[in-house]
Amino acid sequence: MNEITGLTLPENLVSFPRGDGSRIPYEVYTSPEVYELEQERIFRGPTWSFVALEAELPNPGDFKSTYVGATPVVVTRNDDRSLSAWVNRCAHRGAMVCRAARGNSRTHICAYHQWSYDTRGNLRGVPFRNGIKGAPGMPADFDPKDHSLQQLRVESYRGLVFASFSDRAPSLYDYIGPQMRPGLDRIFHKPIVYLGCTRQYSRSNWKLYTENVRDPYHASLLHAFLSTFNLQRVGMRYEVSASDNDLHMLLMSYHAEDPSGGRAYKDAKVSSFKEGLALSDPSILTNVKEFEEVVSAQIQPIFPQLVVTQIQNSLAVRQLLPKGPANFELIFYFFGYADDTPEMRMHRIKQANLVGPAGLVSMEDTLATELVQSGVSGSGDALSIADMGRDVPDDQQIRSGISESQVRAFRRGYRELMEL
Ligand code: FES
Ligand SMILES: [Fe+2]
Repeated sequence: MNEITGLTLPENLVSFPRGDGSRIPYEVYTSPEVYELEQERIFRGPTWSFVALEAELPNPGDFKSTYVGATPVVVTRNDDRSLSAWVNRCAHRGAMVCRAARGNSRTHICAYHQWSYDTRGNLRGVPFRNGIKGAPGMPADFDPKDHSLQQLRVESYRGLVFASFSDRAPSLYDYIGPQMRPGLDRIFHKPIVYLGCTRQYSRSNWKLYTENVRDPYHASLLHAFLSTFNLQRVGMRYEVSASDNDLHMLLMSYHAEDPSGGRAYKDAKVSSFKEGLALSDPSILTNVKEFEEVVSAQIQPIFPQLVVTQIQNSLAVRQLLPKGPANFELIFYFFGYADDTPEMRMHRIKQANLVGPAGLVSMEDTLATELVQSGVSGSGDALSIADMGRDVPDDQQIRSGISESQVRAFRRGYRELMEL
């Protein structure tokens, strides 16, 4: 039995034949027991889950419904401008209290018996509590203070709002850590404006997406748009850093011209490379210089629910929400800077087409994760391989982007957190 969580691990839930993360049983993507354990050890464990941008909740009373793992949660802006988060489950008989995706209200009223709560989740009203017309009310020892909605810790870093169920989680500042803070500081260095979101579902396990964003090896092979229009090709420079616990990652890629016209892809007969294809309006490829150094892509997963991305001038955060062992929801929140010119705002909105459910460089990702989910059905104790670059030191292999070092790192961090 685990001393902290009090959980007893089922015997031989999954076994990892190697400690380096290069082999992982497919069962971790399919097992309902693993999924339940993830809720306990990850989403209700000592982590911080991304729940909102502060820019989504600018005014007192603003609220947003979302999730921490499988648990429905509402994030609110209080009158004193602080943020709260509470489990969206009525303290009476468990009904979902807030049914709107977002809005503004000082009071949240449960439809079932009309118990009402304030923005912090404190119980404020119980109809007929003191009895009415001779009918009895609640017992004398009923104290509303004992029946608030379950409240979570809430902290924000540079306008990114996170929530945690756990007292054991360090401060958000320390959770993000010194290796990851510079990436967030770079993107969120001035006020942002929230532009809107897209949502999609993928019939696959959430960790397959977590691995996908840590896998530069696939980028120019799966995504025809990247290699064909030279947004990413082999030979470009990559920089990667990971947090000490191996759960977060910061990847930067830098553009390079390719005078060979994609020779590496032609020679390797990469079918996704579409020679001769041209864009009649290539402005979607433009990277307007706005940072000190021109970075073509910054991909930064902050485990477990957040991926921060800058691709050319498209800025977004992705929220990854597990929906059972074989389904997840993926929400892309697009934003720009408050001081963007109208032209730059339009350019960002145009480049929003690079990512999202039909994104020119992202639509294949959730297809790939679904292909894996389909392929691993009934896989018994078969293993997934992540060997690319394994016999070369991490800092050397990652420069080319042809590497699975961060997939292996994530699996090691996951295994440790899950105590498997
Ligand atoms: S379940 Fe919410 S008031 Fe009864
Ligand atoms: Fe991808």
